[in-house]
Amino acid sequence: MDPTGYPDLDALLPRLAAIEGLTPDALEAERIAILGRKQGALTALLRTLPALAPEERKALGAAVNRVKQAFEAAFDHLTTGTGDRPEAAAGLDLTMPGRGRWIGADHPVTRVTTEICEIFASLGFAVAVGPEVEDEWMNFFALNFPENHPALDAHDTLFLSEGSSERADRAGGRLLLRTHTSPVQIRTMQSGPPPYRVVIPGMVYRNDPFDPSHAPAFAQIEGLAVDEGIGMVDLKATLTHFVRKFFGPKTAVRFRPSYFPFTEPSGELDIECQLCHGNGCPACKQTGWMEILGCGMVHPNVLTNAGVDAEKYSGWAFGMGPGRVAMNRYGLPDIRYLYSGDMRLLRQLGGTGR
Ligand code: DAH
Repeated sequence: MDPTGYPDLDALLPRLAAIEGLTPDALEAERIAILGRKQGALTALLRTLPALAPEERKALGAAVNRVKQAFEAAFDHLTTGTGDRPEAAAGLDLTMPGRGRWIGADHPVTRVTTEICEIFASLGFAVAVGPEVEDEWMNFFALNFPENHPALDAHDTLFLSEGSSERADRAGGRLLLRTHTSPVQIRTMQSGPPPYRVVIPGMVYRNDPFDPSHAPAFAQIEGLAVDEGIGMVDLKATLTHFVRKFFGPKTAVRFRPSYFPFTEPSGELDIECQLCHGNGCPACKQTGWMEILGCGMVHPNVLTNAGVDAEKYSGWAFGMGPGRVAMNRYGLPDIRYLYSGDMRLLRQLGGTGR
């Protein structure tokens, strides 16, 4: 602040600059020394005013007020958030700018899974879930895998025991981490009489290395529809409807024959590559197509193994990888982005905050 020309006032100005460095106690003492109503330096000067000539009084009065305001502003600034406020005792300064809060986001696989389940829900499918620890019968044999199938090899499947645990003994087989969500087909059919229309989201586990296209733990969504008079046309119409709802009404689809032990006939469903729309690109290995799921008519042995009358009922099923679908949708080149817990992914895909 500029000098006022009054020596008594100007003598106070260095103290204005000095108050910033004071401790809270010294600050309060200084406030009383300058602004105090009884003995404050400025108050003392104001008391001299009535004795002065009008011109003098006006000029000094204005100068004292300017200095007073400058001190008041300085004290106010320094005492906000200090003094006897409880937040000051806790070391908080409420005048600081707020810290951005991290607001979470659904993981892309969760988001895709929710959307897929909603589309099937609109067609009358319920959501079912099952355990991640299964036995050999649920995971393989009930699903019509032969006993010597290579998937039962420890190179592919993560076994938890050699059949010594109580549960494994009761199950009559080794315990394992389920390699697919298909055993929940069996559990669903064992839970009550047909008809069944369910989608089954869940994590599955395989003895695979973590590389750009494999993860030892990844998500699947299974689908199962069993009723009287269900045929291949139901499978094709439902899955085509699903693809057009999810990827867009003009998306090209094709069904290719395939093989799974638990379906006959079996197929795989390809959709037009979402990156090049059928022209061919590295992502679709120049084919213009991307595989999104396996499907087929439920094998009569599977119905029988689950206690469903295969003469009376028929059904279709599918198994899909929502991680693959999410990679497609968000243009992710490497599956490890999805399953390595890297928060930067969520921040880019809809999380807010810092
Ligand atoms: N369980 C199969 C897998 O993990 C996927 C699958 C294929 C599921 C065809 C099905 C199906 O229900 O019908 O590779």
